[in-house]
Amino acid sequence: MLLTDWQQLHADHFAGQRALVTGGAGFIGSHLTEALIDLGAEVVLLDDLSGGDVANFEGFRQRAGDRLRFVEGSILDETLLKELTASGGGVRWVFHQAALGSVPRSVDQPARYHAANATGTLNVLEAARAADVERVVFAASSSAYGDSEVLPKVETMPVLPRSPYAANKVYAEGLCRAWACSYGLDTACLRYFNIFGPRQNANSAYAAVIAAFAKALIAGERPVIFGDGEQSRDFTFVDNAVHANLLAARSDRPIEGAVMNVACGERVTVNQLAQTMAALFGRPDLTPEHRDERAGDVRHSLADLGAIRRTLGYEPLVAFERGLEPTCGWYQRVLSSSVSS
Ligand SMILES: NC(=O)c1ccc[n+]([C@@H]2O[C@H](COP(=O)([O-])OP(=O)(O)OC[C@H]3O[C@@H](n4cnc5c(N)ncnc54)[C@H](O)[C@@H]3O)[C@@H](O)[C@H]2O)c1
Repeated sequence: MLLTDWQQLHADHFAGQRALVTGGAGFIGSHLTEALIDLGAEVVLLDDLSGGDVANFEGFRQRAGDRLRFVEGSILDETLLKELTASGGGVRWVFHQAALGSVPRSVDQPARYHAANATGTLNVLEAARAADVERVVFAASSSAYGDSEVLPKVETMPVLPRSPYAANKVYAEGLCRAWACSYGLDTACLRYFNIFGPRQNANSAYAAVIAAFAKALIAGERPVIFGDGEQSRDFTFVDNAVHANLLAARSDRPIEGAVMNVACGERVTVNQLAQTMAALFGRPDLTPEHRDERAGDVRHSLADLGAIRRTLGYEPLVAFERGLEPTCGWYQRVLSSSVSS
């Protein structure tokens, strides 16, 4: 997309190959789909639009032509999943990005989250197994580390899920590993750390912090920080997550359900984030408003990248500040009209 030349990085590895992207109308899934299209792949995009939006792929739909097929449907529909995974003689890879993503909502609706995120993953793996897919790449989550204070987070640390959402993601990692061991379906689990970039939903009540700050700054309001703002995150521009997915698919060695962190390996405090964003929006006067810390918020999060470097040869492509600029530019374009109307 904006900052990364996929062709230079992945040459013709995906040209003429078929992939299924679940959750492809969402934030990360749409960027991954766009990169695959630009690399010459054929993509079947399955999304129930519960959190995604067709606008996320409208911008490249024409360029994709008949190499992009959008199917509105759910990963809970086993028949549909099997049909799509086997379509056109079978897809080579499944990139499983579909999920319900709000931690607080998962606390209110645990059964619904379990169905989509856990049973949905089971369905994806079963469809992939039936269609003899080469590899399933799963969107796992750094929430698996819970509130452990040990930094950086290494994949060998115990999992400590603190919410139904985190528990779903850990359970789904287990399924991915079990399907590799029991059925020989190769799988890779990518634990994303705070992914951000254009197309991340800012209108949800549960918008991630960057989206929420952008919304406030554009509306001329002070961004709200819960706590003292010295909590830190490994904010990761979306191209890094796309790159990790592409590397995982391309691996010529079995991955066997291995879990790997996907991040930048940089620690940025929420105060630094607010200050940088206020400057980028030309509103340094909008200093953050601090409110009470939220129960359950993790204090620091920072990834160790050793496993993904060794297994996939991954290096972060786009550093935090470099990714923040086009992200703020995108929010400015899409949110300004809704704020002024
Ligand atoms: N954004 C992050 O920082 C982050 C961090 C860790 C993990 N993840 C994971 O990465 C994946 C992508 O996240 P995102 O930020 O792009 O979120 P997103 O909400 O933009 O994308 C998820 C997509 O899945 C779709 N979906 C939900 N339930 C579905 C179902 N039953 N059937 C078909 N489609 C369904 C939604 O409509 C949406 O388009 C998710 O699995 C999420 O849990 C994201």
